[in-house]
Amino acid sequence: MYDNEKFFGNSDYSRDIEYHLHSYTHPQTLFDEGPHILTKGDGIYVYDETGEKFIEGMSGLWCTSLGFSEKEIIDTITDQLKKLPFYHSFAGKTANPAINLAEHLIKISPVPMSKVFFANSGSEANDTAIKMIWYYNLARGLPEKRKIISRKKGYHGVTLAAASLTGLPYAQNGFSLPLEFVRHTSAPDYFNESLTNENQQSFATRLAHELENLILKEGPETIAAFFAEPVMGAGGVIIPPDTYFSKIQDVLKKYDILMVADEVICGFGRTGNMWGSETFKIKPDIITAAKALSSAYLPISAVILSEKVYEPIKSQANELGIFGHGYTYSAHPVCAAAALKTQQLMSERNIIGNVRKQSKLFNERISNIMNNHWFFSNSRSVGLIGAIEFGYEGNKKFDSKIKIAAQCVKAIQKNGVILRALPGDIIGFCPPLIINQEQINEMFDKIDKAIKNFDKMAKALR
Ligand SMILES: Cc1ncc(COP(=O)(O)O)c(C=O)c1O
Repeated sequence: MYDNEKFFGNSDYSRDIEYHLHSYTHPQTLFDEGPHILTKGDGIYVYDETGEKFIEGMSGLWCTSLGFSEKEIIDTITDQLKKLPFYHSFAGKTANPAINLAEHLIKISPVPMSKVFFANSGSEANDTAIKMIWYYNLARGLPEKRKIISRKKGYHGVTLAAASLTGLPYAQNGFSLPLEFVRHTSAPDYFNESLTNENQQSFATRLAHELENLILKEGPETIAAFFAEPVMGAGGVIIPPDTYFSKIQDVLKKYDILMVADEVICGFGRTGNMWGSETFKIKPDIITAAKALSSAYLPISAVILSEKVYEPIKSQANELGIFGHGYTYSAHPVCAAAALKTQQLMSERNIIGNVRKQSKLFNERISNIMNNHWFFSNSRSVGLIGAIEFGYEGNKKFDSKIKIAAQCVKAIQKNGVILRALPGDIIGFCPPLIINQEQINEMFDKIDKAIKNFDKMAKALR
């Protein structure tokens, strides 16, 4: 643990406070409590600068699927850096790793797809997808068709358009967002939002009706696309009812609205299939992917387009003389090489097989937490992503000001596991996909121990 002296002098600690504006951090808390400085990774474990060891129960930010010390990715990155450290994809230029990666992504897509565009983050991929959708509709002579529907509690990133799609107030408050072209519909959160006597199927039907009513109210000729994560991650690990996406897609088809699957978390094995779209029977027109694409070793994201979307874009670009979009680092050869190696290792080591194998124990251990403590009201998981939700006597919530989930996550971290508190007093679990049975038990034994000690605190907070 840190001692107070770390706050003074020229330590990393004090210089971080002095100079670094952190992502998604309460500035005063950073000032009061200081940063947590991580220095080393080893498999599913990370170490901080005091030498303390943690299980990374969130794969960082739902991303380091192959853990924190995968030598083959590191060697591939080093080799590619020596060969060609940078090239771009403007004016027809490219490098071999990007070609191989694009081909691979098309081959493994959950539905027939045509082209891959590369960017650097999930947010950029989603912003790019919106621009492409606008370009596509302009090419089809439908300039009015530009509104995008996403869902409350959805997370799609932080750039202007992606933050607008995000249905969580913290990404919009203070930024004058969302932008005017975005509409939000309800999340498929059966546990919190179903009506009395509504089963999963009738709840899904109601949400499909809600979507259709929204489309009719806005005018179908103004709605371009629907963005959805197969499992909502940052919004609380919300797993949709079985029939939800087929009902939603029936509505979208009826009104010529594109389905965009934001696979930034679910893609590459997280739910027990290569894609969340396979697990939840989504037939996307566009896929956005990032994170586990390269196991987060280097930043890279992808927008995967169907022929239906690509063809008008191509014709329009031919007419205009250029497809006027692209980032300096799109298709970066080193990032693409890292991603390709990640995907190769996933296949060679049957990582999806491991997710399926471990998911039963993972689910059992999460359910046990819920069953053994009065202050949890729901638990859920699919593949190796899951959550427990605070609540008592059915689904009474703790006062949100108390931040009970955040306090619990702190207690768990003191016991050697890094997890994440999500809005709605939910704790998310998303360990590296390489986790084995022994490590799952180690992780949950540590969590159980911390939560046991937390019991008294919860009683006081009720
Ligand atoms: C589903 C989803 N989409 C998009 C993003 C944004 O990705 P990035 O942070 O790489 O911009 C995230 C990030 O957590 C995400 O979970």
